[in-house]
Amino acid sequence: MNVAILLAGGTGSRMGDTKKPKQFLNLCGKPVIAHSLETFENCKSIDKIILVCADEFKKELLQIAKSYNIKKITGIANAGKTRSESSWNALCFLMEILDEKQKDKCIVLIHDSARPLVSKKIIEENIECAKNNFACETVIHSVDTIIQSFDRKTAYKTLNRNELFLVQTPQSFTFNLIYSAYEKFFALSENEKPNLTDDASVVQFFNNTKVHFVYGDKKNTKLTTKEDFAVLEILSRLD
Ligand code: CTP
Ligand code: MG
Repeated sequence: MNVAILLAGGTGSRMGDTKKPKQFLNLCGKPVIAHSLETFENCKSIDKIILVCADEFKKELLQIAKSYNIKKITGIANAGKTRSESSWNALCFLMEILDEKQKDKCIVLIHDSARPLVSKKIIEENIECAKNNFACETVIHSVDTIIQSFDRKTAYKTLNRNELFLVQTPQSFTFNLIYSAYEKFFALSENEKPNLTDDASVVQFFNNTKVHFVYGDKKNTKLTTKEDFAVLEILSRLD
């Protein structure tokens, strides 16, 4: 069984002043989250979709799902204070609804609803890669040179671009692996927790598992600031 967790529990603070979180705003005539919902819905290898969303937007989200005829939604977990907490809430929800046999065979794909243009190809490749390697993340090459700085004012070191990748989602894992990694992460107190902001880094840190790469594409970029709406509208027209 392959389950997609679609994260929509963020507030979109880097968007500045908007009426609603970015995942509920309009992109090319439909809500941002409707784009990836449709892609997961139309992907034959996805069996279930678990949504993560703040209480106040659950009704709106279900309304969107209904309008776009999304049938695979199995539940809505509560948004957490951080992205990690939102992922964890969805995993705990899955823990409750899957039986032991399903847990053993389940592949979980965790995706940012703020990446509306994820393709079927990326999703299929994530499933295949997670089945073969237990853990994978979607990445693209870094086209820019990246430098490290500790004071935010001066360069410390120019990093080797050939070794640098930008991380996207989905990030996909066998259920037991990602659950146990997050279980260890959330067993720590706030002071003890390492600063990990995505799912693959939690798996790497706590389970010492190699996270394999699936190559994504530029279209799968994340809506973060207001100007990204214009960028994504243009990207959506490309094949
Ligand atoms: N997310 C979530 N729960 C959170 C934080 C983030 O489900 N507590 C989700 C967002 O809805 C988004 C994805 O994780 O789809 C990636 O996060 P990001 O782009 O950082 O979104 P926000 O946290 O909403 O934006 P910002 O960081 O600008 O506040
Ligand atoms: Mg955020």
